[in-house]
Amino acid sequence: MSSIRSENIIIAVPKGRILEELIPLMKKAKIIPEKAFFDGKDRRLLFSSNLSWLKIIRVRSFDVATFVAFGGADIGVAGFDVLKEFNYPELYTPLDLKIGSCHLSIAEPINYDKNDNTQLKIATKYPNITDNYFTNKGINVNCIKMNGAMEIAPKLEMADKIVDLVSSGKTLVANDLVEIENILDVTSHLVVNRTAFKTRSENIRHIMTLFREALDEKNS
Ligand code: PRP
Repeated sequence: MSSIRSENIIIAVPKGRILEELIPLMKKAKIIPEKAFFDGKDRRLLFSSNLSWLKIIRVRSFDVATFVAFGGADIGVAGFDVLKEFNYPELYTPLDLKIGSCHLSIAEPINYDKNDNTQLKIATKYPNITDNYFTNKGINVNCIKMNGAMEIAPKLEMADKIVDLVSSGKTLVANDLVEIENILDVTSHLVVNRTAFKTRSENIRHIMTLFREALDEKNS
């Protein structure tokens, strides 16, 4: 039976900040989405491209890896932070696109002074990375999973510290926090569903080559 899914290669791309860096790279790779894709107000999630067999979905950056791991998309552009957090075995990560450069850090309030023996509470979007990091240091922490605005959590006394992405560092400064440790360097990677890589190898390799050439061109 034919369907959108069976007849096309689907690439999942992240909305927001990363997309601004990804669009010029896609252009260099000669992957051109239809016009509506560039309209932030367009509510559609699925778009066509200049390649008749390639469709593009525009999703939350945190969901790209999940769309690809569960086979909703064949390929995606996902941050190393998200890949580490979910650690999906179904994903193959052939190419660092070297965009969306930032890092995942622990931050705490200026003049931080924890003077009780209670378990450290950490507000974060990354409970798995955070748990692993502290467990490796022999420290038990209590992660409070949040989806955003965790920078305010210490001031509101609901968490001692945060683990979050830092780019310019302005959000930390604006919320009276200081970065105390970088725990992961982050860039965006091309990710591929392992099964799709076997069954749809020709088209997927074609997309990988287009991105590889675009990166070579960018670096030459
Ligand atoms: C990210 C991150 C920080 C901020 C850091 O959030 O969660 O809040 O950017 O950037 P900075 O160091 O340049 O200030 P983003 O704005 O992407 O929104 P989100 O909370 O929806 O992820």
